[in-house]
This record gives sequence, structure tokens and C-alpha cells, in this order.
Amino acid sequence: VERLGRRVGIQIFGTDLDARGIEVARAGRYPEGIAADLGEERLRRFFLKEERHYRIKKDIRDLAIFAVQDVLRDPPFTRVDLISCRNLLIYLTADAQKRLLPMFHYSLNRGGFLMLGSSESATGFEGLFDAVDRRWKLYRRKESGATIRPMFELAARAADARESMLLKAPGKIDLADILRRHLATNYAPPAVIIDEKGQIEQIHGRTGLFLEPAPGKASLNVVEMARDGLRTPLGAAIRQILTTDAPEVRKTTRVRTNGEVMSIRLSIRRLLDPKIGRLLLVITFEPEEGAGSREAAKPMKPNRKTVGLGSTGQLEEELRTTRSDLQSTIEELQATNEELASANEEVQSVNEELQSSNEELQTSKEEAQSLNEELQTVNAELEAKLQSFEEANDDLLNLINSTDIAMIFLDNQLHVKRFTPAAQSAFHLIDADVGRPLADLRSSLEYPDLLADAERVLESLMPLEKEVRASDG
Ligand SMILES: C[S@@+](CC[C@H](N)C(=O)[O-])C[C@H]1O[C@@H](n2cnc3c(N)ncnc32)[C@H](O)[C@@H]1O
Repeated sequence: VERLGRRVGIQIFGTDLDARGIEVARAGRYPEGIAADLGEERLRRFFLKEERHYRIKKDIRDLAIFAVQDVLRDPPFTRVDLISCRNLLIYLTADAQKRLLPMFHYSLNRGGFLMLGSSESATGFEGLFDAVDRRWKLYRRKESGATIRPMFELAARAADARESMLLKAPGKIDLADILRRHLATNYAPPAVIIDEKGQIEQIHGRTGLFLEPAPGKASLNVVEMARDGLRTPLGAAIRQILTTDAPEVRKTTRVRTNGEVMSIRLSIRRLLDPKIGRLLLVITFEPEEGAGSREAAKPMKPNRKTVGLGSTGQLEEELRTTRSDLQSTIEELQATNEELASANEEVQSVNEELQSSNEELQTSKEEAQSLNEELQTVNAELEAKLQSFEEANDDLLNLINSTDIAMIFLDNQLHVKRFTPAAQSAFHLIDADVGRPLADLRSSLEYPDLLADAERVLESLMPLEKEVRASDG
């Protein structure tokens, strides 16, 4: 495709009988050992290296839909361009192979390819497939007139084959299981199991009359796969069971299948089994005339007015179905519109709240900005004052230190705050004496009243001047 430079939408279906295998495939994780089988370029282009494994890149993973499917029993996918079924045929009996290869022929588009495993071949099916490359076991669908058995018969035959195999195996007969299978195959209506999102997880019986692969991007969504006339009531019924507590929702509708119209009963139930651990729904489809039989797909009988008009009656019938479809679509649309309108209102109210919060925040921000500016001005003023104080302080200190007068500055508790160099010798002061009480100081002055005089000055706040002698005269 790349070499041809074409943009082609690709859808990959990965199916297996084994649900655990499908889970592994869905995770898209591969062991480190794949590096030995894949070229470096492929590895880099399609995989991401994680801690101890490789993970397929999302754009490739998104192309794939994985589902549990029994190729011998379940309805096959159709309009497929390439089927890769490697190493399965070798495990099947010749009889099962005879059923499977026509099924593959039926699934493939004109000119579609089939790829088998290295020890398998389509020998014996030359009427259905041409060999393109015998070494790589590549075959192309042949446009022969070969009749393909309808898949529904195949399902029943496969079930019968299994039952007879079980009967033949001595000591392994589980009659209850055989009876269950027999009842399910012959009497139970066609059914599918879907998850909450409508994705089909399991198919039972002949669902081809009600479901078909939708055109465009391939999908396993049951609503998208529903045939004309079924889509709307099916979607509505799924919504109804998901949004109410009803154990079952039933609807009757008309479905168009291959140009014919048939009336069917649709039933949806919750699949109640604690082992499942999540919500699954079972949908059953029952034709109103003759449960499950092909006759049920016959066109509706024309009504009295249209007797004799043949196809006109059929057209009228189709018109009626289309009208009723349209009506339900309109009703659904109205319900969706109402939901949208209320969701819109909520969004609007949240938006308004956000806007008003935003305005408040804007105002707070402006206030904070102006406060900040004021603080900056005050700060600048304070800094200027501090600087002038520091300068005055320096001047004073210089003045004091430059005079030869002995001075001791005391605080209110008469502890030494500061002294001049001249005072150092008279009182034997060192720098560590700052903070010591005056009473503790020894002086070389003959002045025993120094402490009492200092206390008096502090009390009276009046200066006191005295002439005293130094002890050295
Ligand atoms: C030997 S493995 C081959 C796997 C892979 N194609 C390969 O070549 O490596 C056979 C696979 O076929 C699956 N299988 C067996 N019977 C099947 C059936 N009736 N429908 C779908 N898958 C089936 C098995 O579960 C198993 O995963």
C-alpha cells in the first residue's frame, strides 16, 4: 500500500476460540524475544520499547478489534481482503476443514487472499482458491460458481459433530452438557452478548438476518451492525435497560433483510453472573412467525388494500417501517436534544461562575498590585532613613573615638553599652565587657560613689559633674 502511495483504511480482526488468548492480544505486549524475528526497522516503526517487553504502537493497535470467535460455529466476518489462518487447519479433521475453507471463501472479497500455515494447504479446494505462492501458502479467492453452504447450517453441523464426537469418547459423556448444547442450537433464539458500550463479545446462532457488517470502518458495535429497521429500537432498548432497573426490555420491530421485511421480537436482559464481574447484556432476536426459521424472513403479507399490487404492497410496508423508524429517530433526537440542552445549561452556569470568579480574582490582583507598590515606596523610604541613621551613627562614633575623653555609656540597668578608648585604661575594659554591670567593674579612680551617682542621675535625669583623682595620682 505504501509503495503504491495510496491511502487505504485498514481494519484488522483478531479472533480465537480462547478468551485468554484474546485478552493477551488486546494488551498488545510482546516479549523482548521478538527482536530476533523482526527486522530493526519494523521494530522501530511499529513497536515501543518498554521495561522488559515491546508494546505495539497505538496507531496500529487502534486498527485491530479482538474478539472471541469459533470459526466453526460463529457467523464469519464478511468483505475481508485477507485472511491469515495459520496453524489451525492442522488441528482440524478433514471434515471440519471441508466446512471451514468454503466459509473463508464466503468471507473474502472478490480477489481476496488466504494465508495458511507452512505445513497447511488448500489442496482439495481448487474450486475455491488459486495458489498464488505455494511456498508461503498464499491463495486467492476464485470466482467459481461453487455453492457455499449457508453459515447457519454450518454452525448447527459443527455443533452436531461435536456432540457426536463427545458421544464417541468413552467415559467422557456429559449428557447435561449435550442436552444444553442441543437445546441452545435447536431451540434458543439467535443472541449476542454485548458490553455496556454495545460491543459484541459473543454471538450465538443465526444473527445474520438481524446484524451485518456496517459499511465504512469495520466495527463490532451491535447498533452499528443492526439491519435497517432494527437500529433505532435496538439503540433505544439498550439505553433503556442501562438507565433503568428493568430486568428485561422487550420491543417488537420490523427489520429489512435482503429486500424483505420481517417482524421480530427483540429482548435485552442483564447477564447476571457474579463470575463475570462486569455488566454484560444478552440480546435475543426472535422472528414473530416461526422462531428462528428462514421462513421468518419472508416478506410481510400485503394488506387488503394492496392485494394484487405485489411490489406496491411491499413498498407501502417498507414506507410504514421507515415512517415508524423515523418517528422513533425523531423521538430519540428530541430526548438527546433535551439532554444536550440541559448539559448546555450546566456548562453555561459553570461558565458564568468561572467568569465571576475570574473578575474577583482580577480585582484582588489589582488590589494586591497597588498594595505591593505602596509597600515598595514605604520600603524605599525606610531604607533611605536607615542609611541616614547609619551615617549619623558613624559620624558620632568617629567623633567620640577621636576625642581623648574617657566615656562609658550605660543602659537603664546600668550595664556597659559602649566606651571610648580613653575609658579602657581607667576601667581596665576590654570589648567583652560590653553588657557587664557597672558594679562589677574595677576602676583606677578614687571614686567609690560612682555606682550611687550613676543611679541618682538615672532617677533624676539631672547631669552630675564631679572631679575625682586617679589612684596613680
Ligand atoms: C496452534 S495455534 C496457532 C496460532 C497462530 N495462528 C500461529 O500460527 O502461531 C491454534 C489456535 O487456534 C485456536 N483455535 C482452535 N480451534 C479454534 C476454533 N474453532 N475457532 C477459532 N480458533 C480456534 C486455538 O485456540 C489456538 O490459539
